[in-house]
Amino acid sequence: MMQAGGNSRETWGSKIGFILAAAGSAIGLGNIWRFPYVLGESGGFAFLIVYIACVLLIGLPIMSAEMVIGRGSGRNPVGAFRVLLPGTPWWLAGAVGLLTGVIILAYYTVVAGWTLAYLYESATGLINSFNTAEAAQQAFDRFVGNSGLVVFFHFLFTVLCILVVSQGVKGGIERWSKILMPTLFLLLLLLIGRSLTLPGSGEGLKFLFKPDFSKISGEVILLAMGQAFYSLSLGMGVMITYGSYLDKRTNLFSSTGTVALLDMTIAILAGVAIFPAVFAMGLEASSGPGLTYVALPLVFSKLPFGAVLSTFFFLLLSIAALTSAISLLEVMVSFATDELKWVRSRATVIMAATAFLLGVPAALSFGVWSEVKVFDLTFFNLYDFLTANILLPIGGILIALFAGWAWKKGAEQEMMQGSTQKTLFRVWLWTVRIVAPIAVGAILISNLL
Ligand code: PFF
Repeated sequence: MMQAGGNSRETWGSKIGFILAAAGSAIGLGNIWRFPYVLGESGGFAFLIVYIACVLLIGLPIMSAEMVIGRGSGRNPVGAFRVLLPGTPWWLAGAVGLLTGVIILAYYTVVAGWTLAYLYESATGLINSFNTAEAAQQAFDRFVGNSGLVVFFHFLFTVLCILVVSQGVKGGIERWSKILMPTLFLLLLLLIGRSLTLPGSGEGLKFLFKPDFSKISGEVILLAMGQAFYSLSLGMGVMITYGSYLDKRTNLFSSTGTVALLDMTIAILAGVAIFPAVFAMGLEASSGPGLTYVALPLVFSKLPFGAVLSTFFFLLLSIAALTSAISLLEVMVSFATDELKWVRSRATVIMAATAFLLGVPAALSFGVWSEVKVFDLTFFNLYDFLTANILLPIGGILIALFAGWAWKKGAEQEMMQGSTQKTLFRVWLWTVRIVAPIAVGAILISNLL
């Protein structure tokens, strides 16, 4: 199909395929190991209201901006800005996105590798015999300290990403998203069923949802904005890339709304699957690796059929990580195929290998390189800090300013294709012009301080 850029480009096979792929990018580790804890810790239902406001005021406008830039140009993030405003330095915004994507992919695949290892160990019954939290912690420390093993699983996960992305947009990313996303949902429902039927599970629900408006402070609002931003995969051009494979009939407003709704629903459901079980077992709430690789294995150890439940959980987490990682890889691959004219298979292997190599220092951060620090951070923490706290917000601000000011006329024309909602367009325009840059700027400044 011919697109505005004039290059012949693959398109999504169906709207639902595109939505599942975009939701697959959004739904990742951030939804499962971070959001539920933040929700519970930062005011429960009160936080949820703030979070929804952040999604509406920042998330949706920036996601629409990315998609409109992608569809309008029919290009990767660097090429998109070049096609839409040639001869200006705006392409640098795309280049920042590309750099951010490589770094996120580098450490994301490390964590995804741990998840694969825990999936293997769950299925073979190796990690479901913990009696104490110390035992579960020691097992995790032993595993992440074994650098050879960690790099092996990091490699294995990278290969999975290559297998999907090398098959193309429709035959790879879309096809696998259509299989994996419903599977993820089903696994989540099964885990919720188990979690909610445990005696004492009500405590977990109370932790998650009990409204506490006194917790809502400026800091918590910034936290909600940052979480919404990261969770929706914004600021580095994933949605530009996925948008570039869209046809002109797709309504961008309803598509972004659906993706955001799915992302939020899964994040809340993840909390309902996890915390009732954690509290029923008398454990404390936590987040990140401590929750996923220590507390939950202990929970599964104490439950009948724990190995099966544990296998389900790590499969779910692997799926969530895979559909996010492939979106990051696709950004790089679309750049290489559009701009460097590489064939897809070559682009996929070289780009994935680059991210893999960059990820090795992060993989070693918990083992042989745990003492190697840059700015007082291990490579793993450095990558995470640099991308989530600095580069993504910078990318987000640039994208909003581009769509709202620099390329406003084009954005209007493109946005109104497949839509008749003029008022919605005006609301969108003013949020990307003013609200989103100020809000994301505030996140950036507070992160830097
Ligand atoms: N949205 C993913 C998550 O919540 O885990 C992470 C992510 C993927 C962030 C892709 C940014 C991105 F471009």
